[in-house]
Amino acid sequence: MSDAARMPLPSGPSAVPSAARAQCQRAPLGLLAELTHRCPLQCPYCSNPLALEGAGAELDTATWQQVLRQALDLGVLQLHLSGGEPTLRRDLEEIVATASKLGLYTNLITAGVLLTGQRLEDLAARGLDHVQISIQDVEPANADRIAHYEGAHVKKRQLAHWVREAGLALTINAPVHRQNLDRLPGIIDFAVEVGAGRLEVAHVQYYGWALRNRKALMPTRSQVKRSMDVVEGARERLKGILVIDCVVPDYYATWPKPCMGGWGRGIVNVTPSGKVLPCHAAETIPGLVFDNVRDRPLAEIWLNGQAFEKFRGTDWMQEPCRSCERREIDWGGCRCQAFALAGDAAAADPACVKSRHHAEMVALAEREADQPAPAFAYRRPLKPAKPAVAETS
Ligand code: SF4
Ligand code: FES
Repeated sequence: MSDAARMPLPSGPSAVPSAARAQCQRAPLGLLAELTHRCPLQCPYCSNPLALEGAGAELDTATWQQVLRQALDLGVLQLHLSGGEPTLRRDLEEIVATASKLGLYTNLITAGVLLTGQRLEDLAARGLDHVQISIQDVEPANADRIAHYEGAHVKKRQLAHWVREAGLALTINAPVHRQNLDRLPGIIDFAVEVGAGRLEVAHVQYYGWALRNRKALMPTRSQVKRSMDVVEGARERLKGILVIDCVVPDYYATWPKPCMGGWGRGIVNVTPSGKVLPCHAAETIPGLVFDNVRDRPLAEIWLNGQAFEKFRGTDWMQEPCRSCERREIDWGGCRCQAFALAGDAAAADPACVKSRHHAEMVALAEREADQPAPAFAYRRPLKPAKPAVAETS
């Protein structure tokens, strides 16, 4: 355990001034707890940062449990246990048990290649509510190629069945792009066959590893159009059986999505080392200061942290967002995408038709999608290191 991890945590949200509490229009619904950046897969669109946090920097069990208590006090209802691959944490059972005792709805987001049926049963017995399994394709060879892990798809299918046998709710998450989008009908059939209640057809978002691999991932406009028709047809056909979440991908959209439900509004993200972020890609924006749960209570960070205050609400907006009638619908779109493509995190998201960068963004997508796909730059594996949790489990 690192010295920083031994430090006593500050006391809970009672330390937050009531004036600051009043400023908070809404508590976050969800806590995205990135327990580790370690992962056996190497997906080329991974949402983890290019500079992955090592095992030695990870929060220990007690600190995560304290974070969960602080999250509950803040008003969080849902806990998303994510990574990397959260099942690499040997203390996952303890973290799930704490969340369950606190009454948090607990969702495990997993690549699905490491869990055994026995461990899943144990997690269910400790109060796990929901499992989300990501798949790379339904064609096993292509799925394993994208994940860079032989046999991954077969293991995921097996885990999906165990999840249903354990009586847990199941979501299939399918990141889609030019190298799997044409098999969307099969992906939908897979979700039905394994008994999922929800399918997320998640068009890849281009920051971090996906931005690096954008030329290899960008679908054509006609692929996107066909996929939206497939989704519409399946939604009709599968009413009452499967809920399908899917939105038009940014590069071919007219209006942006309200990323993270609005900056500092819907979700709070804690990294493996305890940094508190408004979104998982926020570290790509220069000039933001990220407080750590080792140093400040979660509620104080959420309410007053520099990074959260920077783009919360609408005061930071410039034209065209400032006077736009949609500014409290999409909250200006995605700050990380605005920075990545317009070079200004306070600009309108270029996915918006009102952005002066919109036409350029669409042309770039069409140009890249028309070129042959280059080889993937896979997410780099981390060097094996002894995890901090080894001392506590
Ligand atoms: Fe959203 Fe800004 Fe575009 Fe209006 S101008 S739709 S607020 S991104
Ligand atoms: Fe950071 Fe959209 S990913 S605001």
